[in-house]
Amino acid sequence: MDKMVLTGGKALHGTAPTSGAKNAALPILFSTILAPGVHRFRNVPRLMDIDSTAALLQSLGCEARRENELYVVDVAELKSFEAHYDLVRKMRASILCLGPMLARYGHAVVSLPGGCAIGTRPIDLHLEGMKALGAEIELKDGYVHAHTKRLKGASILFETATVGGTENVMMAATLAEGTTILENAAKEPEIVDLAEYLNKMGAKISGHGTSIITIEGVSSLKPAEHSIMPDRIEAGTLVIAGAITRGDVKVTQCRPADLESLLIKMRESGFKIETGDDWVRVQGVSEWKGVDVTTAPHPLFATDLQAQFMALMTLAKGTSVITETVFENRFMHVQELMRLGADISPKTRVAVVRGRPSLTGAPVMATDLRASASLVLAGLAAKGETTVGRIYHLDRGYENLEGKLSGLGAQVRRME
Ligand code: EPZ
Repeated sequence: MDKMVLTGGKALHGTAPTSGAKNAALPILFSTILAPGVHRFRNVPRLMDIDSTAALLQSLGCEARRENELYVVDVAELKSFEAHYDLVRKMRASILCLGPMLARYGHAVVSLPGGCAIGTRPIDLHLEGMKALGAEIELKDGYVHAHTKRLKGASILFETATVGGTENVMMAATLAEGTTILENAAKEPEIVDLAEYLNKMGAKISGHGTSIITIEGVSSLKPAEHSIMPDRIEAGTLVIAGAITRGDVKVTQCRPADLESLLIKMRESGFKIETGDDWVRVQGVSEWKGVDVTTAPHPLFATDLQAQFMALMTLAKGTSVITETVFENRFMHVQELMRLGADISPKTRVAVVRGRPSLTGAPVMATDLRASASLVLAGLAAKGETTVGRIYHLDRGYENLEGKLSGLGAQVRRME
């Protein structure tokens, strides 16, 4: 298993580009099931989760391949309607093939995803949504079995604003008979990107990006072309890398508006942040102050940046109270940050971080994708050498992170 070895304490300088967004690319690749033919995408990041998606699409009978700058998905008639446990357990987002298969073919068998490192993460709201559209759902032998003649439009109020649930039901509703209204829909930019691709395919979706999404069902969709939006979480992680090392970093090819809640907190903490149309520049300061952060659905502070922001707060002057409201178990990085010398008191959903003047390198273990990113950030700032184990978590969601960090002057290498 690969490890990442960082020699910390070096200020990062320069420019780093943002890759395409994992969490937009995954639902968009699954949405191809809705329309037979050849779909073409740009800016699909090279990540393990994209390879897992390709493996699942291939197991259903589609072809997914890279052609230079393009990512091509060739969708014929599916030869299987089953998303197997071996594929789904590797990547929970695999559940997103349920809506498209059900809408186009009237049946789907998808494994329940099983356990997760950051919380229980049920899929009940996805299933309630499919039922509201007229599907019969049965849970048998660890699998969701879904059937319908043709889905019918309905009004659906989500009890919790769920990103995946909104995406799955929105995809299913594109081919339903009649109009579907989703209330308390999630508003994440990745949902907007998916809706834009669905509309390019001929869907009739409006209201995406707000909490009420309306989908007028159509009888068929056609493949289209699309460039995946920039990854706001990767961009935010790189901005924090510049800040935590007291460097001067310009993150390009991103959308600053998608990062607003992070940038507000960073300015409040004392960092100098400039933005342009598609870039953010952070200038480090010798001292920054602890600020409180509460994660919540978009446009509030993203749970996917909580661990990285906590790393930054471990070196702040003063105390920061970090509250996680989206997932119930997303503090797995805390014990590892403490191995680097951080002073943190974690409770179930609240962590009190008392800033220290410095961290010291140590061997640490990654537990999930964003936890790994926070350990890398802390390692960049810590004195001496930090080794981050189980770095495969990072490969799921960060394209060439060590290359981008090395380009900014970080001393980082991968070791088998
Ligand atoms: C998406 O997960 C992202 N994944 C996550 O990214 C992200 O952390 C999360 O949204 C929140 O922003 C992808 O887009 C592939 P949710 P998702 O459904 O869709 C509860 C990363 O690091 N819930 O919005 O699974 C759930 O338990 C990650 O890239 C139900 O109760 O998140 C959670 O508490 C990991 N029942 C809350 O809703 C359901 O049926 C929000 O989860 C569905 C969700």
